[in-house]
Amino acid sequence: MTRNLSADRLQPFARIGGVLHCEEVDLREAARAFGTPLYVYSRAGILERWHAYEAAFAGRPHRIHYAVKANSTLGILELLVEAGACFDVVSAGEILRVLAAGGQPEQIVFSGVGKTRRDIALALLLGVGCINAESIPELERIERIAASLGRRAPVALRINPNVDAHVDEHVATGVGDSKFGIDIRDAFSVCRQLPQMRALELKGLSVHIGSQIRSVEPYRETVRILAPLVRQLEALGLMLEHLDLGGGAGVAYRASETTLEPQNLASALYAELDRELPELKARVDVEPGRSIVAAAGVLLTQVEFIKRGRFGRSFAVVDASMTELLRPALYGAYHKIEEVETPEGPREVFDVVGSVCESTDCLGHGRSLAVKEGTLLALRTAGAYGMSMASNYNSRPLPMEVLVSGNRMTPLRRRQTEADLFADELLAGEARADAGVLRATLFKALDIAQKI
Ligand code: LLP
Repeated sequence: MTRNLSADRLQPFARIGGVLHCEEVDLREAARAFGTPLYVYSRAGILERWHAYEAAFAGRPHRIHYAVKANSTLGILELLVEAGACFDVVSAGEILRVLAAGGQPEQIVFSGVGKTRRDIALALLLGVGCINAESIPELERIERIAASLGRRAPVALRINPNVDAHVDEHVATGVGDSKFGIDIRDAFSVCRQLPQMRALELKGLSVHIGSQIRSVEPYRETVRILAPLVRQLEALGLMLEHLDLGGGAGVAYRASETTLEPQNLASALYAELDRELPELKARVDVEPGRSIVAAAGVLLTQVEFIKRGRFGRSFAVVDASMTELLRPALYGAYHKIEEVETPEGPREVFDVVGSVCESTDCLGHGRSLAVKEGTLLALRTAGAYGMSMASNYNSRPLPMEVLVSGNRMTPLRRRQTEADLFADELLAGEARADAGVLRATLFKALDIAQKI
C-alpha cells in the first residue's frame, strides 16, 4: 500500500516507477484486462474514508449513512455493508440496491422531495428505518399509506434551515427558495400537528444544506438554527431519536483545494451541539457520499485521435465522454487528467473531449499533456457521481467498473454491449430482426473486432 508520508493519509493512487497504480495494481494492466472506459476503485481507499468518519464521530451515539447516489454500484454498497454502514437513499431503486448488497432495511433512511405512493408503500412494506419527509402534503401521504397498511411510519422532518453553504448553485439545497425540505419557520407548527397523525412516529429531524462544502461554518450555523426548534420540541415532550445533519463534505479536486476532513466536521458539529444543546440525547447522524468514494476512484480512458482545430486548438479525442462522466459537462466541474505512464515527450495544451454529439462533451479544457493515439489517461477523483450519473446517451454502453484490493482486481459488472441497450424496448410494429440472431451476430463481430 502506498502512503503519502507528508499527508499521513492513505493515497489509493500513486506513481510507482513512473506509472500510476491503484494500490498495487498497475493501471495499464487494469486497462489491458478490462478495456476502457473503465472505472477503477480502491477498496482500501473507500474503507479508509469510511473508518475516518466512524472514528471522527465515535464520541457520541451516531450513525454514518452513506449517500447511495454518490456511487450505487452493488459491489461498493456491499463493501460498505460489510464495514457496518447505514445508508441514505432517494428512490425505491436505491432501497433495493442496498438490500441486494446485503444491507438491512432498518439501516436505511429514505430522503427525496417527490416520493410517490408506490415508493412510500414499498419503503414501509420493506421496513425502511426512517422516511425523511420534505413537505406537509408528503407527511399526509405517508400517514394515509401507513394507516391503510395498518402500520406506523417512522418519519423525520427534513428541514430547510436557509443556510448558505457557499457552494456551486447546482448543488445548493439548504437555501430559502430551494425545493428541498420544510421551511424552518413552518417546522414547529408541523411538529405540533404530528401527535394527531397517529400513523406517524416522529423519529428525528434532518437537514442537508448542499454538496462539496469546504468549511465547517455552514454546518455550525445549521446547528445554531436548528437548536431552538429542538428545544421547543423537547419542551412539548417530542423527544427526538436522532438529528441527521446531512452530507456535503467537500473533497479536493485540484491541488489547490482542501478536503473537509471528517475529524474537523465532527469536532465542529459536536462543539456546536455541546454549546447549543448540552442536554441533547438524540443520536447524531450524517449522510456523506462524495467524501467516502470520490478520491478512491479514477476513470481510465484511451486517446483515440489527436485533432487540430482550425484556429489552433488541439483536441485529444478519448473513448470516455459525458456519458461516462457527466460532471464536467453538467457543472463545469474539474477533474484532474493525467497520463497513466509519465510521458517523456514535450507537453502541449489539449481539450480532452469525448465523441458524444454535444459541444459540452469536454472532459477537460486546456490541459497540458503529452499524448498521442493510444495514450492511457486517468481522470482523477471520479469515484463519486461518476458511474452513478452515467447514461446510455448516443446508445453508448456503460463503462465497466473494477474494484482493486492490494494486487487483486475484481470486476463489479460485466461490460454492457450495444445489444443490452434496447433489450427492454418494444417495437410497435412487426419486429424486423430476431433479437437472438442479432445478439449472436454482434458477439461474433465483437470477437473479431477485439483482436484487431
Ligand atoms: N443527503 C442528501 C439528502 C443528499 O441530497 C445528498 C446529495 C447527500 C446526502 C450526499 O451529499 P455529498 O456528501 O455527496 O455531497 N451530482 C452532484 C452532487 C449532487 C449531490 C446531491 N445530494 C455532483 O456531481 O457534484
